[in-house]
Amino acid sequence: MRATITAVAKYLPERVLSNQDLEKMVDTTDEWIVSRTGISERRIASEGEVTSFMGTKVAQELLEKAAVAPNEVEAIIVATVTPDMLFPCTAALIQNAIGAKNAWGFDLSAACSGFLFALETGAKLIESGQYKKVLVIGSDTMSAIIDYEDRTTSVLFGDGAGGVLLEPASDDYGIIDSLLHIDGSGANLLKMSAGGSLHPASSDTVEKRMHYLTQEGRQIYKFAVKGMAETSEDILTRNGLSGKDIRLLIPHQANKRIIDATSERLGLTSKQVLVNIERYANTTAATIPIGLAEAVEINYLRPGDYLVLSAFGAGLTWGSTLIRWGKCK
Ligand code: ACO
Repeated sequence: MRATITAVAKYLPERVLSNQDLEKMVDTTDEWIVSRTGISERRIASEGEVTSFMGTKVAQELLEKAAVAPNEVEAIIVATVTPDMLFPCTAALIQNAIGAKNAWGFDLSAACSGFLFALETGAKLIESGQYKKVLVIGSDTMSAIIDYEDRTTSVLFGDGAGGVLLEPASDDYGIIDSLLHIDGSGANLLKMSAGGSLHPASSDTVEKRMHYLTQEGRQIYKFAVKGMAETSEDILTRNGLSGKDIRLLIPHQANKRIIDATSERLGLTSKQVLVNIERYANTTAATIPIGLAEAVEINYLRPGDYLVLSAFGAGLTWGSTLIRWGKCK
């Protein structure tokens, strides 16, 4: 039995933070940000628009689109690195907000690869034959962990959420294959050091700005291009496909140059690659479901189309997922 995506939804805060706004906050320019990253603006959460709030909006829209009652939902998996709090998990907060009385669920932490890791987990629940309705959501409030005095990271991220409803496929379509990786030898390249058991929150950790995201940008860049291109090529090859068979690649939106390098390696044209980084920047676990929602909104996908989702992120984590698109709302 295969899992298929039967509904997709996204939520983005209304508040816009443009490159021109950032020019007034840190030593940067619109020209630098656009030429190095492809980003023009990003959405920033207002008070109360926290990770569970955005995830709840997505969950509600998914249920509405698919005409599924809250008590039919059996599991809720939330990919996030910015939960409302360390515990209870965001999945519990969303479960309560939507009234999914018969569901269990959990949060999954794999940074920008989080949505793909959660999608694979949800797909396996469906494939087991024991689950018929699983919500998979990526939601991140990156503005909560970004240092707006650091020009090397503040320009890169935004807030948002997206998600899908997974159900058993009634035809040959659905989530065909996934190729996922984790390698902790690169753990120090991208992290938020404090707030966990290693460095519990203290006035010292706050003073040292350890509750903010830090990264080795150049090293992450090289790893991202390699990881996304290789797993995308490998997943196509092992399914007897190549770049020309793909209707759409939805890559994690971290840097337009990373996306271009990946698509070049796969020999894709610009029509085969979804890019929305100029409007939303990097929303971590939300970039891929937001992209998917936009592709569905403009009717870009037809039943039978092949789709590759590809991501990389902190961990290090990376991977690609191959989908044969079915009927989706
Ligand atoms: N404005 C102006 N100048 C800047 C800015 C800025 N916002 N940021 C850095 N610079 C400067 C640097 O200080 C450096 O100056 P120097 O030469 O005087 O030292 C110069 O610009 C070049 O810096 P580089 O780091 O070499 O710039 P690069 O072209 O590599 O671009 C970037 C940096 C955009 C961070 C790129 O390396 C990148 O995108 N890396 C991947 C990062 C990423 O995707 N992270 C998220 C991963 S997903 C997740 O799990 C959360």
